[in-house]
Amino acid sequence: MKIDILTIFPGMFDGFLSNSIIKRAIERNLVEINIINFRDYSQDPHHKVDDTPYGGGNGMVLMVQPIYDAVMALRKEDTKVILLTPDGEKYNQRKAYELKKYNHLIIICGHYEGFDDRIRSVVDYEVSIGDYVLTGGEIPAMILTDSITRLVDGVIEEGSHINDSFNPDTNLLDYPTYTKPREFMGMKVPDVLLNGNHKEIEEFRYNESVRKTKERRPDLLEK
Ligand code: 6GU
Repeated sequence: MKIDILTIFPGMFDGFLSNSIIKRAIERNLVEINIINFRDYSQDPHHKVDDTPYGGGNGMVLMVQPIYDAVMALRKEDTKVILLTPDGEKYNQRKAYELKKYNHLIIICGHYEGFDDRIRSVVDYEVSIGDYVLTGGEIPAMILTDSITRLVDGVIEEGSHINDSFNPDTNLLDYPTYTKPREFMGMKVPDVLLNGNHKEIEEFRYNESVRKTKERRPDLLEK
């Protein structure tokens, strides 16, 4: 899996790429993540990437040329191009599984008041991460990259996303987990988890998943 992220704030990704599971996935060549400053593709003598909106109004608008040229230079036959925008389709785990199937993604981070609508002509998916407005698409780009990378074979322990909350096959929330000590401030670990009976443990976890989902997210069970 190769993910190219187009941004004018590459520094925002430093911490994301240099820690924890993402760092290890890159080191083990399970994913390739490139942070590309689309300012480098601007044909303007001052490498301008934004301008005032036609028709007037507040703020600056990202110009189509730098992003268009960057996408054309990077895209290959099987590339999917994703535009991050609050008016895109709402992102979820199902979408993460869908995007994980592609070998190459280009993710475009919007910024400022918005972008020239003609950018949409090079885009396959428009994605939002929720009903609120952020200053730019950089944090959403990290959210997509993180959620897709952890699904790539070998990144996390095999089988450990089977029980993830929102797994499209079960659509259940994850069951509660515990570790040492057996008792903390009077709160005990459920006995069934200590008895070594794997069938009983599996049953307990499934029932807890269903109970939790009914209580917190009945909408998931209706789907
Ligand atoms: Cl993808 N971008 C911005 N700027 N704000 C958002 C968003 C994306 N998703 C939710 N809010």
